[in-house]
Amino acid sequence: MTLALSARAGRAATLNTPMLACLLPAGGGLPAALRELDKALGGALRRTFDRRDFRGGRDEVLHIVGGTRGPRRILLVGMGAATVRESALRRAATLAGRQAHRAGAGAVTVWADALAGRELEQVAIGVQLGAWEYTDMKTPPAEGDRRAPLGEATFLVDDAKAASTPLASAAAIAEGYALARKLANMPGNVCTPELLTETARDLGKRHKLRVTVMGRKEMEREGMGSFLCVAQGTPQDPRLVAIEYGQGARGEAPIVLVGKGLCFDTGGISIKPAERMEFMKFDMCGAAGVLGAMEAIARLGIKRNVVGVFGATTNMPSGTAVKPGDIVRASSGKTIEIINTDAEGRLVLADVLHWVKQYHPAAVIDAATLTGACVVALGNSTTGAMGNDDALMAEVVAASRRASEPAWQLPLTDEYKEQIRSVVADIKNTGGRAAGALTAAAFLAEFVDYPWVHLDIAGTAYTEGDLTIMPVGATGVPVGTFVEFVRGRAH
Ligand code: BES
Ligand code: MN
Ligand code: ZN
Repeated sequence: MTLALSARAGRAATLNTPMLACLLPAGGGLPAALRELDKALGGALRRTFDRRDFRGGRDEVLHIVGGTRGPRRILLVGMGAATVRESALRRAATLAGRQAHRAGAGAVTVWADALAGRELEQVAIGVQLGAWEYTDMKTPPAEGDRRAPLGEATFLVDDAKAASTPLASAAAIAEGYALARKLANMPGNVCTPELLTETARDLGKRHKLRVTVMGRKEMEREGMGSFLCVAQGTPQDPRLVAIEYGQGARGEAPIVLVGKGLCFDTGGISIKPAERMEFMKFDMCGAAGVLGAMEAIARLGIKRNVVGVFGATTNMPSGTAVKPGDIVRASSGKTIEIINTDAEGRLVLADVLHWVKQYHPAAVIDAATLTGACVVALGNSTTGAMGNDDALMAEVVAASRRASEPAWQLPLTDEYKEQIRSVVADIKNTGGRAAGALTAAAFLAEFVDYPWVHLDIAGTAYTEGDLTIMPVGATGVPVGTFVEFVRGRAH
């Protein structure tokens, strides 16, 4: 599923590899390390640079045929005029991985100037993200017609020994991304609350983690009327799942990661339009991100106590579904007037966020495909971040940048609370057209009393169109942000 990663020192010119991918900055010209290869190719690389046929621009790609010996094909990938080399390298590596995979290279060797440490790790993550594809539901093509999927990536470095640590963490993190993307890409009839639960149980078994599972009955006992009103339109048993990872000090307050797990969101009685509704199978990307992050964290063996939690159900219209105007009581005791049954993610999270108080968390980060308004505000490349603690916010935003999954803080001041006041109940579940991402966060804030950051990943967790480096489907966001945050707090 994921690639075999290795590192080696050596010369590019004599490499026996199906494809050599060179990650190059803008306007750099022929690097010294590729001069010997250029000679072997009769000056083809030099001519390419001199003629400005390749300029190293962002996402620029040039395929070159290799000589009789050495690399069979050479792929030049541009990094652009980047301010942060690490994230430019990761992006170029993702594109290289995607190109190598599509070209049927089978194996790729990656070169970039002075590749080591965190840059090497990010490049190795990038190649694996780029080569990843969701094919589980496709009938495999006949043997002879099939191009070799990318199975191996080798990195040309100065110190191959020093490469083993970054490559091991890159493999762990890529496994996390792969799990999250696989779950997220699954259609709603396959990825059910039950399947997410079984995935959590399997993860727990493999890494010896405690897994707690609650169903409708258990949630009724806890008075989770907010979560349950979303689940009352589906016969599927809703699930609240917690995975406890305890490699930190005994008694140390855990980091809690929370995910929205709507296996499908029709909108319920406030039904969504048919156009593009199929993408609402991605409404469980927060939960998938929690599972992927827990997979990576366990593989990395991070010395920290971490709890991964998600609430999973399906939002359906039916004879038993919750209706606009209904009033429900959350487990915290607050009453909620349902204005729009399509604002269901916050209803699920209300009870989950209240439930995680029992962990006395050091910090809680939730990730949710919560609002279309966040997509309008920030588009598809930036996650919206809202919270109640400035220091924690700065930490989460910094982690998101390290992960190349940038988040941007949006305001969460008391004004937004006024928009969710209800005439007949304590609060209502929508706040009108203005500031939709913020009134959603203001709603969640009603149920937290610990340092907390909410990540609205509605625009970033999946893509509805090809993104050059990513095919249509799940991007893996927020796995990297979760992992970087936890790593940043490791002992
Ligand atoms: N899952 C959606 C949010 C969403 C929209 C995610 C587009 C990804 C892309 C959420 O449950 C929802 O429907 N939110 C409503 C809230 C509204 C009714 C206040 C929305 O954004 O329209
Ligand atoms: Mn909805
Ligand atoms: Zn939703």
